[in-house]
Amino acid sequence: MSIALPSSLDRSREAWRGMMRWLAARMPKGLYARSLLIVIVPMVLLQSAIAYFFMERHWQTVTQRLSAAVVSDIGSMIDLLESRQAPQDLIAAVAERRFGFDVKVLPREPLPPALPKPFFSLLDSALSRELSELRKPFWIDTVGNSKLVEVRVQTDVGVLRILTHRSAAYASNSHIFLIWMVATSLVLLGVAIAFLRNQIRPILRLSRAAEDFGKGRDFDFRPHGALEVRKAGYSFIEMKRRIERAIEQRTAMLNGVSHDLRTILTRFRLSLAMLPDGPDTEAMQKDVEEMQRMLEAYLAFARGAGGEQAAPTDMRTLLEELKADAERHGHPTSFTYTGDPLATVRPDAFKRCLTNLVANAQRHGDKLAIEATREQRFLTVNVDDDGPGIPPDDREDVFRPFYRLDEARNQDHGGTGLGLAIARDIARAHGGDISLGVSPLGGLRASVRVPI
Ligand SMILES: Nc1ncnc2c1ncn2[C@@H]1O[C@H](COP(=O)(O)OP(=O)(O)OP(=O)(O)O)[C@@H](O)[C@H]1O
Ligand SMILES: [Mg+2]
Repeated sequence: MSIALPSSLDRSREAWRGMMRWLAARMPKGLYARSLLIVIVPMVLLQSAIAYFFMERHWQTVTQRLSAAVVSDIGSMIDLLESRQAPQDLIAAVAERRFGFDVKVLPREPLPPALPKPFFSLLDSALSRELSELRKPFWIDTVGNSKLVEVRVQTDVGVLRILTHRSAAYASNSHIFLIWMVATSLVLLGVAIAFLRNQIRPILRLSRAAEDFGKGRDFDFRPHGALEVRKAGYSFIEMKRRIERAIEQRTAMLNGVSHDLRTILTRFRLSLAMLPDGPDTEAMQKDVEEMQRMLEAYLAFARGAGGEQAAPTDMRTLLEELKADAERHGHPTSFTYTGDPLATVRPDAFKRCLTNLVANAQRHGDKLAIEATREQRFLTVNVDDDGPGIPPDDREDVFRPFYRLDEARNQDHGGTGLGLAIARDIARAHGGDISLGVSPLGGLRASVRVPI
């Protein structure tokens, strides 16, 4: 028998996955921010590497060499002075002419206390290192005067004070390189931002158009931008056209069928009216009426929500109408509405959706409650009743077309089983959905939630 122990490979893979998940959770989600990162991160890494190696190698080396040159000049001067072969004035004059030094020999006195080291100075450290090679006490000031460097060295003839140009000992314009680097990368960044924004705008526009189409809103969309995005845009338009054509065909066919059937039904009803009243004719009349109602329901289902345009609709009024209607049918109904009454929906379709829910509540319950909440981005309408409700296992099934619980319950209400299917279709066409649950009244709660 063997037991599978987690190998170290598995563990490291798990750790890697965990890290990736951690990273993914912290990464920006938008395409714009992500593509900006794709541009910025390599640039920053590259520039940091370049700057580091430049500082490390080039700048430091050059400064070191320059400092070494200055110190060797100082060294030869000291040698000359200490040999006492030439007058001090002559040496100072030569140093000024040849080395660009301002030299003064001060009387022998202790050197001033060392200055604090500047925080960042290649020059100070390079010059100190080189001067210590002379094996004489020295003192330097690289910060006091921005253009000059002052060096004092204790010699046999006195304290030698040398003022020289900073640039003689220091690769002073090297930081220009860094400034240029940062400045050009800022320009590059600006260009990248401008270009990326232009690349991403068409994608956003396409997604907005797709969303509007899904919610049945009118929109104006022309493909723009990069070839691939434009292609996606044209495909979207083509798809939209195909969908619209399919809906149109379906509606046309249905209208034809319903027209034909209605004509026959009307004829039938007329003939029935001619017949003498009796229990037989009454039953037949009922059947005809039911057929008519079913026909209407099928048509409403097949027609779907297509064709209608979304428009700002006064939800409060619409729901109040439903409440009044339910009360007229003898169902005490409470109604609350919170938030802005205006919501952009396809008015007829949305009303049909709610009517179906309220009709169900009326059919199965006695008391009704309608409550609606309009929030920032969502409209939620709850339709509650005090009927038997629907067991949790059946709550998905009842949305299937022609699926009826009533048959199983042996109480024939004569529905077609399409009401909830239609209602969900409409809610989904608005980008939302319907869910069923338990109402505070004890029966079923149907809640419609659509984005506004
Ligand atoms: N409020 C409710 N309380 C209890 N059961 C319900 C409720 N609403 C719907 N149902 C059950 O869900 C089934 C499907 O409902 P749906 O509205 O789709 O069809 P229907 O009401 O039977 O017919 P139609 O609405 O087309 O006239 C119904 O047969 C009914 O048993
Ligand atoms: Mg129904």
